[in-house]
Amino acid sequence: MKLNRYEALDSIRANVQDKNTVKHMLATEAIMRALARKLGEDEDEWGCTGLLHDVDVELVKDDVNSHSKLGADIAIELGASEAMAHAILCHNEVHGVPRETKLDKALFCADPLSGLITAAALVRSDKLKGLTVKSVLKRFKEKRFAAGVSRKQITVCQELGLELEEFATLGLEAMNDIA
Ligand SMILES: [Fe+2]
Repeated sequence: MKLNRYEALDSIRANVQDKNTVKHMLATEAIMRALARKLGEDEDEWGCTGLLHDVDVELVKDDVNSHSKLGADIAIELGASEAMAHAILCHNEVHGVPRETKLDKALFCADPLSGLITAAALVRSDKLKGLTVKSVLKRFKEKRFAAGVSRKQITVCQELGLELEEFATLGLEAMNDIA
């Protein structure tokens, strides 16, 4: 059984009540799809990995030691590949599972980029519409802005051969496309 995007969305609907978390997962999916297109990878595989990556957050409540372990299990139950489940598992560094594949690295850096772009858009009156790459990069440098978003994690994009500006551009375009 192969993972079907609609079943993934059903699982999200059943397990995630917070609308902002759902938006975050959709935004991460969009960035992952754009990354897959750019790198010549499987767009659906990468997109669905992004889509599902936080499916367990409400189920594990605040238990960071369970987050993404349960998510990886749910993904497998839905028909995700081992590679997808691995990327979901290691996006939470707490488990100490090393990032091995491009997919692992892509999810790891797309997740916080989605967070930074969302935070940068939220403080603007025109939200995402008028947000430029330049201002995303400026926010990147402001340590106190969206302090929970790991800048170091975003720069893992370099391991995929993308410079920060290129990655921010791709992420912003991807999020605008689904806005
Ligand atoms: Fe996330």
